[in-house]
Amino acid sequence: MSQRPLVRVEGLSKNFGALKAVDGVSFEIKEGEVFGFLGPNGAGKTTTISMLTTLLKPSGGQAEIAGLDIHRHPNEVRRVVGVVPQEYTADEDLTGLQNIVLCADLYGIPRSNSKPHAMELLKLVELQDAANRKVSTYSGGMRRRLELASGLINYPKLLFLDEPTLGLDVQTRTAVWSYIKMLKEEYKMTLFLTTHYLEEADSLCDRIAIVDHGRIVKIGSPDELKASIGGDVLVVGVAEAEPDIVEDVKKIPLLREVKRNGQG
Ligand SMILES: Nc1ncnc2c1ncn2[C@@H]1O[C@H](COP(=O)(O)OP(=O)(O)OP(=O)(O)O)[C@@H](O)[C@H]1O
Ligand SMILES: [Mg+2]
Repeated sequence: MSQRPLVRVEGLSKNFGALKAVDGVSFEIKEGEVFGFLGPNGAGKTTTISMLTTLLKPSGGQAEIAGLDIHRHPNEVRRVVGVVPQEYTADEDLTGLQNIVLCADLYGIPRSNSKPHAMELLKLVELQDAANRKVSTYSGGMRRRLELASGLINYPKLLFLDEPTLGLDVQTRTAVWSYIKMLKEEYKMTLFLTTHYLEEADSLCDRIAIVDHGRIVKIGSPDELKASIGGDVLVVGVAEAEPDIVEDVKKIPLLREVKRNGQG
């Protein structure tokens, strides 16, 4: 493993008018690492991926992937990264196999190479039996797996996964997690994934950056982050809450924060 980080990001920002969608994020990703961006809707996760994959021009800051500057070498950067976007991008009228081959065409990979490789990738995500079916007949989980396979067509050094399990049922989510773990363990791939599921980041990531309002609030391994938060969350239900119950509960010693949920 080389000493130099595979990804180096320094003060990366994106403004949309007055909105600071990404507000000066800095981080590094080592080769072979699974790095997570964990944050709520609108935190700036997709915008960060769009800048790092050179689809969106940053308002400020620097980033380098595999030693390639995203401003100066966008074409080369695109060759070393793969992306599994948040939204489905596959063409419904084409088969799974045709979709992956089309992605390969866009990379200029000759059909003689791309067809067998596409079949291998479909096998990897257990879609080989559905390879020649139109994507319009695929379930949500099958589409996600197809997107994952498409993102791998150019043998990327670094794969971006934007909300890889959003909207999937628990069983399919677990299957996608196992593919992601396989990419890390068997293929030694470096992964950048975004999620707003705490347990997903915990289960998959070596390091996590917690993002909110375009900023990195905290960064560390899942264990470091858990240790820094500490404590327990207690949810207490009451049949009829007095209006000032929160104020009364706050008087209990050792409580760090009291929040009222639900009605009233
Ligand atoms: N093209 C755009 N024009 C204007 N505002 C935008 C644009 N793209 C994103 N934004 C805004 O930037 C902020 C960050 O958006 P982004 O999509 O990066 O968030 P996210 O963390 O990926 O959220 P989600 O979890 O919902 O996918 C949001 O407030 C969003 O409305
Ligand atoms: Mg997003």
